Amino acid sequence: MSPHHSTTEVDVPPPVRAGNHGLTVDGSALRSALRPHAAGVAVLTAAGAAGPVGVTVTSLTSVSATPALISVALATVSNTWAEIRDCDWFGVQLLGADQAAVAQRFATRGIDRFARPTGWHLGPHGVPLIDACQSWMICSPYRQVELGDHHLMVGAVEHVELGAPTGSLVHLHGSLEPVGPARPVADGPGARPARRP
Ligand SMILES: Cc1cc2nc3c(=O)[nH]c(=O)nc-3n(C[C@H](O)[C@H](O)[C@H](O)COP(=O)(O)O)c2cc1C
Repeated sequence: MSPHHSTTEVDVPPPVRAGNHGLTVDGSALRSALRPHAAGVAVLTAAGAAGPVGVTVTSLTSVSATPALISVALATVSNTWAEIRDCDWFGVQLLGADQAAVAQRFATRGIDRFARPTGWHLGPHGVPLIDACQSWMICSPYRQVELGDHHLMVGAVEHVELGAPTGSLVHLHGSLEPVGPARPVADGPGARPARRP
């Protein structure tokens, strides 16, 4: 890892409020409470030791504008976490309304997620990026914090690319739902120029 991109795994300070943090509700109660929470679906990617790695996430959150920081929470048992934790760069791409199959593919274990029909290309810094997404962010690791059974990866966003502004893919009530226009919005960045008669 290059020196200026050194990731800091911080010693986690004690919880802000005192209290018995062993007595939280269980995971299924939390999932029930969050079912009505519409969460945008993204795929986290990186160049792993043996090839491209990637995983579907809904834990993407905007953290800071200056510097530009985002975060993703990855399960500590995730194979992708093991591959991505030492990468110098990683990519985060937001899926469009018509990319539910991509979301399912990158959440499925035991398959080559980058094999056909997945369309992908190498982006800046050799980060594998999935084709035809809404937007792509190339990040360098900024912080990694172990929190419960996940690791929070905070990334410094060093490069952004915008795709055609189509509708979004969200995870809502346990299913993948398209939201907004299915086709590219005219006049937006990345939209094709309108044909003239
Ligand atoms: C819509 C959706 C959102 C998900 N969000 C996350 C997430 O934010 N963090 C996470 O660790 N796993 C998340 N998962 C689960 C992983 O995608 C899934 O467990 C995957 O198989 C892990 O693969 P890996 O072990 O190769 O990393 C999500 C799955 C789906 C379908």
